[in-house]
Amino acid sequence: MPNSEQYETIERLRERFDADLKIVGHHYQADEVIAHCDLRGDSLELARRCAVADSRYIVFCGVYFMAESAALLAGPDVRVFLPEPSAECSMALMSPSRLVRRVMELLTREGRKVIPLAYVNSTLEVKATVGAMGGAVCTSANARIMLEWALDKADAVLFLPDKNLGHNTGDLLGIPLEDRHEVRLRREAEELDVEAADKARLLLWPGFCSIHTRFHTRQIQRVRSEHPGVKVVVHPECFPEVVRAADAAGSTSFIIRYVGDAPAGSTLAIGTEINLVERLAAEHAGRLTILPLVESACTHMAQTTEESLCSALESLAEAEQTGDVSPYQVSIGMEQKAPAREALERMLDICR
Ligand code: 13P
Ligand code: SF4
Repeated sequence: MPNSEQYETIERLRERFDADLKIVGHHYQADEVIAHCDLRGDSLELARRCAVADSRYIVFCGVYFMAESAALLAGPDVRVFLPEPSAECSMALMSPSRLVRRVMELLTREGRKVIPLAYVNSTLEVKATVGAMGGAVCTSANARIMLEWALDKADAVLFLPDKNLGHNTGDLLGIPLEDRHEVRLRREAEELDVEAADKARLLLWPGFCSIHTRFHTRQIQRVRSEHPGVKVVVHPECFPEVVRAADAAGSTSFIIRYVGDAPAGSTLAIGTEINLVERLAAEHAGRLTILPLVESACTHMAQTTEESLCSALESLAEAEQTGDVSPYQVSIGMEQKAPAREALERMLDICR
């Protein structure tokens, strides 16, 4: 791999761009891509670092909403590129902004104060809608702090789009089940039970991650019986019963720290995207035994390859010479920019 044709070209272009270029990558990216990254992190870390980046170009190896957040937060002279512009997160597409506005209209029709809290895995339009309504963004690393913040300001919070992260965060805050309500969206939310919603403080959008909902409690039972003493750590996009059955749950960076802190000789089973699990297993080989709870790959993350990274960099080099706009550049609609940025900045201000 390090000798592939693309490997050489990428490294040559990195050298040429030098301090003008930062290649950043999410932990779920494949090793062949991670090998070229100046920086890797979870959604929160990458958003924070891109907000203060001083390079002219950021090439973001991840999915669309992540590159979009980087473009929203980056300074006016920084341009952001996504090597695979069609790499969408399927969960982010589960809450169209039109429907979010309709649901908010129904929930607030009698003057109830409801704040929308959008998981960062959401579209630009949703972030803009949420920002304009006084809401904010959260990530899996700060969902608890952000939900507390929102509950403090309102009668209820609409958490979207991931209902599992919403329930898991509700569990952390001790919000009883009878204080939660999953909104129904069928027929343009016509079937939303407004009366039941009015009684709840935590309102949950019915979205989910199809990669993390492949983990089940039966897999935890099996690994515990086959490997007595095993520690199980999962991502909070997993079903609540999976999180409850695990020893720990947290963002991708939390999982990395958890593994790093595990005593030598221990066995861990991890419930998250397979690229990260396999990387951790390789990094800790000989010290720890690391097993996937089940192999679950994010096909959206996998769209970015060494080849697409190479093409994006070549296009960037060409655009620099011709003055054209590269098709890999992420552009942000003027109308959505200010409110979406506000929603993200609220999060960064609260979670310094
Ligand atoms: P993290 O913010 O924990 O890295 O998670 C992002 C994600 O998409 C998980 O599926
Ligand atoms: Fe989206 Fe799930 Fe992939 Fe994360 S793992 S990018 S939430 S589809």
